[in-house]
Amino acid sequence: MSEIWVELPPAPARRYPVHVEAGGLERLGELYTRHVAGARAAIVTDRTVEKLHARRALQALKARGVDAQVVPVPAGESSKSLEWADRLYTRLIWGRFDREAVIVALGGGVVIDLAGFVAATYLRGVRWVVVPTTLLAQVDASVGGKTGVNHRLGKNLIGAFHQPEFVLIDPETLRTLPERERWSGLVEAIKHGLIRDEALFERFERELEALARLEDVSALEAVIARSVAIKAEIVARDEREATGLRALLNLGHTVGHALEAATGYRALTHGEAVAWGLLAEAWIARARGRLSPEAFERVVRLLARVPKPSLPEDLANEELLEYIRRDKKARRGGLRLVLLEGIGRAELAEVEEVEILQALRFLRDHDAQAQDNRARRPRAEPEPPGGAEP
Ligand SMILES: NC(=O)c1ccc[n+]([C@@H]2O[C@H](COP(=O)([O-])OP(=O)(O)OC[C@H]3O[C@@H](n4cnc5c(N)ncnc54)[C@H](O)[C@@H]3O)[C@@H](O)[C@H]2O)c1
Ligand SMILES: [Zn+2]
Repeated sequence: MSEIWVELPPAPARRYPVHVEAGGLERLGELYTRHVAGARAAIVTDRTVEKLHARRALQALKARGVDAQVVPVPAGESSKSLEWADRLYTRLIWGRFDREAVIVALGGGVVIDLAGFVAATYLRGVRWVVVPTTLLAQVDASVGGKTGVNHRLGKNLIGAFHQPEFVLIDPETLRTLPERERWSGLVEAIKHGLIRDEALFERFERELEALARLEDVSALEAVIARSVAIKAEIVARDEREATGLRALLNLGHTVGHALEAATGYRALTHGEAVAWGLLAEAWIARARGRLSPEAFERVVRLLARVPKPSLPEDLANEELLEYIRRDKKARRGGLRLVLLEGIGRAELAEVEEVEILQALRFLRDHDAQAQDNRARRPRAEPEPPGGAEP
């Protein structure tokens, strides 16, 4: 068990604990009583998580005398919308939830972003609690207070900063999560190691596959706690992305977001896209001589162990660059990228478009080589039709 405190200036006005404990969901009621003590709670979740974990959350709260009810939304990114926020407001108003009511977000990043946004805006803001059930949400969306919904013109365009009363992370809930989703979350944790903590990176070098398969829940618990501590430290020093420090969390995301957008958010999970992005962006740091060849090789070797679909062949590098340009234009200015200075160290830097194109070329070569190696390896089973990776 570990408890990490997120301290936001002006301290100690806003501080809240992130409680990480295998089996900790059973203690939701106890933590709720200690840190919130609102008499009424709405557990916002999605239909998938509802079936798997909502009953235990509900019982834990009811056992402490909390008048709690489950409010489900459909699973999937499309619930992160103003329309679903509106339906939740309606449920809360009909249910006579007042300013003392508490929203408990139980689910992945979609539920957290949506429920957090509703908590930030309902009656000008009510208290909320985060219980993340995907690895991505546990190491990323659960800390930082960013909430929001998508607009038809773009992702995450409507939102608010709203910090929760506490976060409860139970790695046991990840047993029901598909392994591909666990890999996706692990990539964000690798990213945290890359920007801040070589020891965490080394742990991945030793135990990556065992962590993805959840062979040892206490090992995963430790990795999540460390990853949360890194994000908490960064957010505490730059909550609103004012100094550039929080921007370091975007390592791998410039190229990663472009890949996701260019493939219609279908071909790759977020983590898979970020894994490709980390490789491309590490290549630029290497080409500039900021990252040593040895460190670069370690990054390449580790990310090669992350299972991911090949890059789509019908997607031209120029087209990807166009997505990056659009993304950056929205944020004004030239191409600013997070570049690795070593394992555990990163800095913001201006880069040229030609460097990005070169990095994309490196990605293609690297991918082709990996495919080649796979084809050469003897296989127990014939390749499925089309040869696509799962
Ligand atoms: N606010 C932030 O700081 C922040 C940070 C990163 C990502 N995000 C947002 O998070 C979203 C992605 O999050 P995500 O990957 O968790 O997606 P998600 O919430 O859609 O969850 C992925 C899938 O896993 C299912 N699921 C969740 N927990 C499960 C469990 N324990 N067992 C089995 N199935 C389970 C869900 O029903 C869903 O189908 C994006 O919308 C992204 O913008 C927000
Ligand atoms: Zn991410």
